[in-house]
Amino acid sequence: MTQAGPPREIVLGVSGGIAAYKACEVLRRLREAGHHVQVVATRAALEFIGAATFEALSGRPVLTGVFENVPDVEHVALGRRADLVLLVPATADLLARMAQGRADDLLTSTLLTARCPVLAVPAMHTEMWEHPATVDNVATLRRRGTVVLEPASGRLTGVDTGPGRLPEPPEIAEFARLLLEWDASNGGGERREPFPLPRDLEGRKVVVSAGGTAEPLDPVRTLGNRSSGRQGYALARVAAQRGADVTLVAGTIADLDPPAAVDVRRVQTTLEMRDAVLDAAKAADVVVMAAAVSDFRPASLSAGKIKKGEEPPSIPLEFNPDILRELVTQDVPRRLVVGFAAETGDEHGSVLDYGRAKLERKGCDLLVVNAVGAGKAFEVEDNEGWLLGADGSSTSLPMGSKAALAARVWDAVAERLR
Ligand code: CTP
Repeated sequence: MTQAGPPREIVLGVSGGIAAYKACEVLRRLREAGHHVQVVATRAALEFIGAATFEALSGRPVLTGVFENVPDVEHVALGRRADLVLLVPATADLLARMAQGRADDLLTSTLLTARCPVLAVPAMHTEMWEHPATVDNVATLRRRGTVVLEPASGRLTGVDTGPGRLPEPPEIAEFARLLLEWDASNGGGERREPFPLPRDLEGRKVVVSAGGTAEPLDPVRTLGNRSSGRQGYALARVAAQRGADVTLVAGTIADLDPPAAVDVRRVQTTLEMRDAVLDAAKAADVVVMAAAVSDFRPASLSAGKIKKGEEPPSIPLEFNPDILRELVTQDVPRRLVVGFAAETGDEHGSVLDYGRAKLERKGCDLLVVNAVGAGKAFEVEDNEGWLLGADGSSTSLPMGSKAALAARVWDAVAERLR
């Protein structure tokens, strides 16, 4: 998590589930980003993790009960001071107590006094997550403005698998940063930015492609495009947390954790990406092509390793299909297609001129244009650019996290879907 502006005050609420051990890693990331973190743990949380671990990582005593520090009226002071309350993990019991507005320990009391964004990251067994009581509690909390993340699917404690797993700490830190960025840009209570995680994509099916593609030359070599996949992953994870049913088609990427609540399909070549995207796109409302697709591939694949020889080999190339063009020219009514363009300006035109020309050439509904070169866009944490619409609209996407850029893209998509 890179630092977003000045250090902020975060209350890290930890409730009693086995995933409490991952709260330590989240805490470490928040501290590394320069934030002040006050751990408020439930008694049950301290059965899983000793207070000493949180105290060493946060540099502050862990608070638990309302009868510690009584003269400071801690539950009111903490809530007022906080820029973000982050709940890792939020157990079924904590969600139930929040939904009821209880104040039976310091954490729930603090939650009643806090007016900052609250990010609850649930972790529990699948049966508990899917129980109508929990489903109702989550709906109640979301209606009141608490961000309750969708859990990940996968291995739970013991042999169980299914939704209920805590999303990975880097993903939690990314959403924490997103809410802090939003809170900071709306300082003074004057709301200017749209909220980044509304549930406005519920019932929508979206496909996102991410990463580069790699075309094999021989059994050991590939020809490919540079891309970490981070922007595509951020788009997928923000869409999933806005309620969409997301398929992420990922090519060659950096070492990234699969986003929570996203169906990830891994591919390598452009032809594999094309098949996976077109297949998933059949039932989709939106397709976002964030992948850096290789335009060419070797005309033939050498069965054996190409030997060094006397001269460097010439490798004939052939064109790959243009996936975005295929999506746009398919006869599918009411499907939105979003493209990406990494551009550099020159004496013939600016980045925006090239972006506008590409939008027209590609025929998509929206195009995200990034200026590249000199440490921008590729393999870095932050991103900026413009969002161009086929309707002639142009919105600047200010420098910020890739999740913040993703949220603005989904704002534009959600507006067009309405
Ligand atoms: N794209 C695609 N299939 C390709 C190449 C690109 O779907 N074979 C998509 C990318 O995912 C991106 C958009 O098209 O959303 C623009 O990619 P870019 O590489 O900038 O476009 P090109 O048409 O290859 O243009 P250029 O000549 O500038 O490389």
